[in-house]
Amino acid sequence: MENNGIIRLGDENFDFPIIEGSEGEKAIDLRTLRGKTGFIAFDEGYGNTGSCESGITFINGEQGILRHRGYPIEQLAENSNFLESAYLIMYGELPNEVSLRAFERNILSNGTLDSNMQPLFEGFPLCAHPMAILSALVSSLSTYHPEYATNNRKVDLGHFDAASAILMSKVRSIAAMTYRMKLGLPMVKSDDTKSYTEDFLSMLLSKPEIPFEDTCGAANALDLFFLLHADHEQNCSTSTVRMVASSGANLFASISAGISALWGPSHGGANMAVIEMLESIHASGDDGSRFVEAAKSGQAKLMGFGHRVYKNYDPRAKILGKSAVSVLDKIGLQDPLLDIARRLERAALEDDYFISRKLYPNVDFYSGIILKAIGIPVEFFTVMFAIGRIPGWMANWKEISENPKSRIHRPRQIYTGSNERNFVKLEKRAQ
Ligand code: CMC
Repeated sequence: MENNGIIRLGDENFDFPIIEGSEGEKAIDLRTLRGKTGFIAFDEGYGNTGSCESGITFINGEQGILRHRGYPIEQLAENSNFLESAYLIMYGELPNEVSLRAFERNILSNGTLDSNMQPLFEGFPLCAHPMAILSALVSSLSTYHPEYATNNRKVDLGHFDAASAILMSKVRSIAAMTYRMKLGLPMVKSDDTKSYTEDFLSMLLSKPEIPFEDTCGAANALDLFFLLHADHEQNCSTSTVRMVASSGANLFASISAGISALWGPSHGGANMAVIEMLESIHASGDDGSRFVEAAKSGQAKLMGFGHRVYKNYDPRAKILGKSAVSVLDKIGLQDPLLDIARRLERAALEDDYFISRKLYPNVDFYSGIILKAIGIPVEFFTVMFAIGRIPGWMANWKEISENPKSRIHRPRQIYTGSNERNFVKLEKRAQ
């Protein structure tokens, strides 16, 4: 639906179309702003900028709503699994039995890494961060599968199906191999008779001579974790993927950039930071109240709290909070970090600082407790986020690559540097 909005600049009125999304969210279409007025829109951090039209994920941050392709996250968490939801996110509809089985087969049968990749793992220092290795090796997949890595603005659906299966499958093998190299453990081969998540846990956590056995529902809990991370609209890493894709870069290169964007503590790195925060609170003997005070005075950040879009409870945090309790119950584990997290949550939700700023637990607040209980090393938490987010990144790559109207992303800036000046030779510069 389109009509016009008027912007007044000085004495002049300018007409701009109004765009309305399918859930009623409105935007002023400013694509002709500079041409018509000489002004650009300044929106550092993009809090008010719609960078694209997208049919993948809908979020209403005020009401705490998250839907993929129209399906509420609560229903997907209850009834679906990671691979089925990945199909939905990537292709737009829930698969029928035949398409789902073909999709799963394609992914499960792609777990083995090219043998030439082995020396790449060996080339990294043992202290290398797994996100650095993941980003580098996902980019390197383009060299092992050049037929699916052509840089082209037009997506070939057959190539996309093949490249996406390679990526979704091998990202697990890369993560598992990285972990095992660090510990000096031999590689465990991918087994395509297992489910996606069971196979991953087996590649990651099997000990020499003792194959991983899932005695406490770890695969289900991790599968739910992956599902809940599968997409989240135009966040930092997804916008990065779209930005890179807008230049025509191939899927592997674009996703590798997304992985780098996810690494930071304001984004995916927060799940690691939450556990580090809970552990340091625990070690200091604080019941959480001192930390809340430090967060209020700006000396610390309550990691896993706050969100650019959610001004209400993140629906994924609600589901993960319950899942954390159930995982710990099944394992029969009493984790003091869960008690601290619950206390921090209660304290923050009753405190005016957090209430007035609408700061609620986000997806990262409870996820680390689950990952830790399953046995995932803390350094790999953000890698788990990345594995979960791959379908969303790929769906966004596909959407932008399929859109004949999409243009290279190229924002402008307000220049605040020096005005023109003459070059000063080295010998004449002040020492
Ligand atoms: N603890 C204490 N104060 C906070 C927090 C927090 N976690 N988050 C925001 N604030 C305060 C902030 O200091 C500011 O206060 P004031 O108005 O007095 O200056 C106000 O709330 C608004 O915050 P902001 O930084 O302008 O908000 P933003 O939208 O730019 O940042 C955020 C969002 C998620 C980066 C931020 O809330 C944060 O750093 N949270 C902790 C890190 C975290 O959990 N990140 C995961 C995000 S969800 C998963 C993902 O997307 O990857």
